[in-house]
Amino acid sequence: MIKFFLKTYGCQANEADSAAISIYLTGLNCKEVYSETEADLIIVNTCAIREKAEEKFFSYLGMLNKKIKVNKPYLKTIVIGCIATYKKDEIYKRFDNVNFVFGAKEDLNNLKVVLSDFIVELESIKNIYHSENSKRDTGFLNLGGFKTAPKELKRSLINIMTGCNNYCSYCIVPFTKGREKSFSAFQILQKIEQDIKAGAKEVTLLGQNVNSYKDPESGTGFFELLESVAKIEGEFWVRFLSPHPKDMTKEVLQVMARYPEKLCAYVHHPLQSGSNKILQAMNRTYTVEQFLEQIDWMKTILPEITITTDIIVAFPGETNQNFEQTMRVIEAVRFDGIFPFIYSARKYTKALSLKDNCSKDEKIKRINELIKKQQDITFEQNSLKMGKVLRVLVEKRMANGRLLARTQGNIRVFLDGDDSLIGSFVHVKVEKTRRSDLLGVLV
Ligand code: SAH
Ligand code: SF4
Ligand code: F3S
Repeated sequence: MIKFFLKTYGCQANEADSAAISIYLTGLNCKEVYSETEADLIIVNTCAIREKAEEKFFSYLGMLNKKIKVNKPYLKTIVIGCIATYKKDEIYKRFDNVNFVFGAKEDLNNLKVVLSDFIVELESIKNIYHSENSKRDTGFLNLGGFKTAPKELKRSLINIMTGCNNYCSYCIVPFTKGREKSFSAFQILQKIEQDIKAGAKEVTLLGQNVNSYKDPESGTGFFELLESVAKIEGEFWVRFLSPHPKDMTKEVLQVMARYPEKLCAYVHHPLQSGSNKILQAMNRTYTVEQFLEQIDWMKTILPEITITTDIIVAFPGETNQNFEQTMRVIEAVRFDGIFPFIYSARKYTKALSLKDNCSKDEKIKRINELIKKQQDITFEQNSLKMGKVLRVLVEKRMANGRLLARTQGNIRVFLDGDDSLIGSFVHVKVEKTRRSDLLGVLV
């Protein structure tokens, strides 16, 4: 039996693709393993969003070449995802252990042929190899030692669209993923129904620009799809990632308010900068004022909403004053959490040609200031939940013995309880609030 290992970098769109590949290979009678040393086939799903993400991937490939491939000459490695789109030649040239590179612009369905060919090839090579090297390869005979996936909440990650037409001036995604393409609503709904029947308790609708979704058959938009998902029978939560402020309408929020049992009162609303000058240079197409107005809608239509955001510091041309403007928006909005990034220059992007005259020290100073400020705000936001009874979804057992659950807003809650609660909705009373999570007791 062929064993495969999936290494996934990047966003949840990549997680969704990897999950689909895993299901496909399992259907071909292969077995997913959770360590590289056990695998006959390794698939690396890559992310190009920032330089660091790329560096991580390249050192991982180097490690595979040096440590894994040498002990298993027949090992096959496939590289897919965003780096694979534009560094195909470099990957083939630098790494002789890579057998196939498949870019993120291509239709993932076309990978099926390659995968099934590789499986057939691997099966015959492995047979020969086994009879010749039976001593060296005892790992495969170690039938009792395989790892089983831990008992965990079943999640359904659904790519409803892919690609991006926005061309934010710093971002490589339109170049790695290509133009926006929405998938059929009929097929999306069918897949979600299947996953719910199979026990999924949380559905995440995904897209680089999820709320610009448009059904290719009927032309209906994101809020209509969201409503159709909410109408599917069963007990489950729905989230979506990542929306763009330019497509955030009141209708989306109103649908969320109409189906509070299903649609999580949670929005990730990426601001990027609190300076209109920088937003314009980033080609974000909204102003700080428009963004703040949308935050007002959210808090009015969904009073219990959790809001998170992305911030880029030290975009070329960002002055200290511009950075202070971002800090003031952070203070005013009081996000429940932020994902802060230092600007990273990326190939193909418009911002690449802009002069970066911020020193490294200054960049680090800014991001640390932002992180520090947000930590305080997150702590205060969490404190507002003290004593409240919240509906949470139990995810898994943690190493510390406690159960991990999440609120609608994706905030972590630790509680004591039985394994049978994993994958179910329970109510907890918040007994303690901390910097990044809550402690609760079952009620
Ligand atoms: N399509 C989504 C997510 C894009 S990637 C959106 O528009 O929100 C996630 C985040 O990475 C972005 O929101 C942005 O904050 C950050 N990011 C993207 N490109 C970057 C770059 N070149 N340097 C630093 N951060 C970047
Ligand atoms: Fe990148 Fe902007 Fe598209 Fe998001 S909306 S993927 S940040 S270009
Ligand atoms: Fe990374 Fe590509 Fe997602 S660059 S963030 S994996 S769209």
